Amino acid sequence: MASIAQRPRGTQDLLPADQPYWAALEAAAKDVAERFGYQRIETPIFEATDLFVRGVGEATDIVSKEMFTFSDRGGRSLTLRPEGTAPIVRAYFDAGMQLQPQPVRLYYMGPYFRSERPQAGRFHEFHQFGIETIGDASPLLDVEAIVLGWNWFAGLEIAGATLHLNSIGDEVCRPAYRERLRDYYRPHLARLSEESRARFERNPLRLFDSKDPQDEALKRDAPRIVDHLCAPCAEAFRIVKEALAAEEIPFELNPNLVRGLDYYTRTVFEYQHESLGGAQNSLGGGGRYDGLAAALGYRSTPGVGFAMGMDRTAIVLKQSKPFTPAAPDVYAVALEAKDELYVFHLAATLRARRITVVFDPGPARLDAKLRKAARRGARLALLVGPEEREKNQVVIRDMQEKTQTSVAERDLLSTISQMLGGA
Ligand code: HAM
Repeated sequence: MASIAQRPRGTQDLLPADQPYWAALEAAAKDVAERFGYQRIETPIFEATDLFVRGVGEATDIVSKEMFTFSDRGGRSLTLRPEGTAPIVRAYFDAGMQLQPQPVRLYYMGPYFRSERPQAGRFHEFHQFGIETIGDASPLLDVEAIVLGWNWFAGLEIAGATLHLNSIGDEVCRPAYRERLRDYYRPHLARLSEESRARFERNPLRLFDSKDPQDEALKRDAPRIVDHLCAPCAEAFRIVKEALAAEEIPFELNPNLVRGLDYYTRTVFEYQHESLGGAQNSLGGGGRYDGLAAALGYRSTPGVGFAMGMDRTAIVLKQSKPFTPAAPDVYAVALEAKDELYVFHLAATLRARRITVVFDPGPARLDAKLRKAARRGARLALLVGPEEREKNQVVIRDMQEKTQTSVAERDLLSTISQMLGGA
């Protein structure tokens, strides 16, 4: 029989077996971000649609085809957030953070929504860990962001991530470069895919994003923006490269890296990982966005940041090492129904002392109960049968060693603490 409801396409259940990986991702994110002096922020799951239209850019894939947009009862257009940077710049101004000492350093973790065709590592609901540094244009903050992201992978002991780096200039040098690129592509328009022809019109830099093998040769010989940066952009890029080298962070200069959001200026970067395979090889990415605040109607304010795909990073983490779910200290069992309440209460007294206890209700044979305790990974089993109950004793079994002792009820806590501590 078909069930009444199925999990929507492109979503996932993060099951207990997944949770240890997610706990590790979150703990490492909090740890590294706070070590750099970043403070946590969380913004709403939905925002006014216009925030993304103006922030991310009308012509981007995200805005033109991937947003989950709906109307509230008053007819206002809202959108499930496809990314975090525009909302955080909004929150920065809403909360008056521009009046605090600058830059303001923020980090965040949570769900995001894009209606892309689902495939391995690509979801409709996914999760990001991100940081944003707002209010200062120093290229060393670009480097700080890159190093922070790199340290996150290191903290998770993820090997094999590669850092791709590019500069895409700013409003001073990019317009001229864009025309140069159009001049280069114009004679070849007929050879381009339909999508690339649309990009030629709307945003020729996105021609570098084409995965069409036919466009490959053209891409290879195209003028590179790093060769056409204005002096301030070139100087900023020089500092970024020099500081990364000094920090011994290996990077690959990638002239094809343009990123899919319109707000970037100057430094852009991406962490890629081969084991993800194919088109979804980006574990995370970011860059500088000095024009975003003004595009949203605020006072012009520089910023830089990144977002990591936590779902993709969880996939890589699973491939690299196994994590086991947290196991209880004690599995508590009464062998007869009349003793259940007593064992239930013993479990409560142990929990009050910060010992984790799983209570197993209902009668069953001892060996069946012990099998359940082992499945659950418990270190100790607490067993009360009729004989023990009569003598005010309990049995404590070491599940690993398969040994057990009877102790007086009053010695229960000290014995258990000792057995747990000594292991
Ligand atoms: P983004 O490159 O669009 O950047 O997304 C960052 C990361 O989120 C990607 O590298 C990928 O790992 C993950 N991701 C994106 N879409 C999906 C999806 N459909 N399924 C699974 N994972 C996905 C941004 O979002 C910018 N806000 C980053 C930023 C912050 N730039 C400056 N500050």
